[in-house]
Amino acid sequence: MRVALLILLGLVIGVIGTVNVVNALNARNPMPKAVMTTMDYHMGQLSHALKAGHCDATSNQRHLERLQSTATDIVPVFDIAEQPFSDAAGQLQTRVRQALQAAPADCTALAAAIKPIGETCKSCHQKYR
Ligand code: HEC
Repeated sequence: MRVALLILLGLVIGVIGTVNVVNALNARNPMPKAVMTTMDYHMGQLSHALKAGHCDATSNQRHLERLQSTATDIVPVFDIAEQPFSDAAGQLQTRVRQALQAAPADCTALAAAIKPIGETCKSCHQKYR
């Protein structure tokens, strides 16, 4: 009887432990992924425009502005306190700002404007993703 009770107690503790672990995993901050997914969406829209050969100045500007404001969230939401990481995030800011200043109004200009941005995404991923 005592053994059976101990086994039952062990099972209950096991279940409680599992629930706690699952809760902890679910509580993982969703923001880093959300920020990256949002930036990916806007970069994706810009490359779709390029592929379709339909690069509209207003739409280019809108996606670049969304990219710019979303990129300001990288450092605050990622828990990575390393200088090269914040430098990479800073470089992204600079390059998006330059792209906005270039105000690409056709596909040739858009391709030239987003190339350095894509390179920044890639180089940070090679190091931190
Ligand atoms: C400063 C570094 C840095 C820069 C710059 C950066 N990323 Fe990321 N990115 C990361 C890290 C770190 C992860 C992994 C996040 C994780 O798994 O929690 C990531 C993950 C991603 C993911 C996968 C998200 C998922 O579903 O797990 C996508 C998509 C992405 N980035 C797109 C981009 C795009 C597009 C750009 C450029 C506009 C960009 N990133 C610029 C650091 C960066």
